[in-house]
Amino acid sequence: MDYYAAETRYENMIYRRCGRSGLKLPSITLGLWYNFGGIDSFENARAVVRRAFDLGITHFDLANNYGPPPGSAEENFGKLLRHDLGPYRDELIISSKAGYLMWPGPYGEWGSRKYLVASLDQSLKRMHLEYVDIFYSHRPDPETPLEETMGALDFIVRSGRALYVGISSYNPEQTRQAATILRNLGTPCVIHQPRYNMFDRWIEDGLLDVLSEESIGCIGFSPLCQGILTDKYLDGVPEDSRAGKWKDQLTWGDAVSTERIARVAKLNELAKTRGQSMAQMAIAWVLRHKEMSSALIGASCVSHIEDAVAALTNPDFDTEELKAIDSILE
Ligand SMILES: NC(=O)c1ccc[n+]([C@@H]2O[C@H](COP(=O)([O-])OP(=O)(O)OC[C@H]3O[C@@H](n4cnc5c(N)ncnc54)[C@H](OP(=O)(O)O)[C@@H]3O)[C@@H](O)[C@H]2O)c1
Repeated sequence: MDYYAAETRYENMIYRRCGRSGLKLPSITLGLWYNFGGIDSFENARAVVRRAFDLGITHFDLANNYGPPPGSAEENFGKLLRHDLGPYRDELIISSKAGYLMWPGPYGEWGSRKYLVASLDQSLKRMHLEYVDIFYSHRPDPETPLEETMGALDFIVRSGRALYVGISSYNPEQTRQAATILRNLGTPCVIHQPRYNMFDRWIEDGLLDVLSEESIGCIGFSPLCQGILTDKYLDGVPEDSRAGKWKDQLTWGDAVSTERIARVAKLNELAKTRGQSMAQMAIAWVLRHKEMSSALIGASCVSHIEDAVAALTNPDFDTEELKAIDSILE
């Protein structure tokens, strides 16, 4: 089936500079962690990706292990590139990562040069790409010297496999060290991908300062806390929701607890006074930092994309609103 991207796709999206680099990212990025794997409907995934690009979302975030099964999100995205998005490759920022378990044995996870390079080669094959735009070390490796992991990222850029490199979930001190090593190698650390949402504010405790000092861009993942910061769980757990489908197995310790939902109910009332949905306010709140280059959302249907992009029409918070949010979250 032929796909022609909407001619209006650049009319409403706001692009933000990523640190001090030449790279601009859409305020909203679509991540393919859930809902784009082998177990999911390919036609739904296709509709979501098409709608995203039609609304100016030029950045799609992947990783070796996204699926399930691991690798299948990259395979599906490769199919979408072949059938739909291929002609627009130069309008896209495609990222991948390696760090979590991908294959058995000592070379299938963490941060060795052996693992990172082999994993990216597999990702490129799955997506039928010659290069990715951004490649990340997905998590810090307590055993591999940071010089080796950063050296591998530098090699990956110099060998043409990626245009930019970044790190994910590194703490402030690790981030500063990684940035220094990469700078000395001549390949800047362009972006950091930490988790950030109203229920997980760890980056406010030092990381944002480091990113600002080092001129590194920030793309905050799970701004909706996997859907908990929306109105979908206010009346219970729908069967077809992420929490419904995965029962108690949500990662990152996320749970639809009574205590959390009571806070979301209050936040939802505040969102209404701003003329926004809960999801829109949660996204705008993440984007309020000048260091934030993009909010990295997930979506299980087209309307989630539309809801997220509409958040950009009301991005500002006054002091009273921010105080009210803080006191609900306290
Ligand atoms: N670097 C890392 O270690 C790391 C870790 C995790 C994620 N990530 C990246 O971050 C991306 C986003 O993570 P995430 O999926 O947890 O993000 P999220 O935006 O916090 O949650 C997305 C989920 O929320 C629900 N949702 C979205 N919009 C909604 C709306 N308007 N109304 C109601 N529900 C809505 C959907 O779940 P339902 O299925 O319930 O509809 C959707 O799948 C991932 O795809 C990945 O690229 C990176």
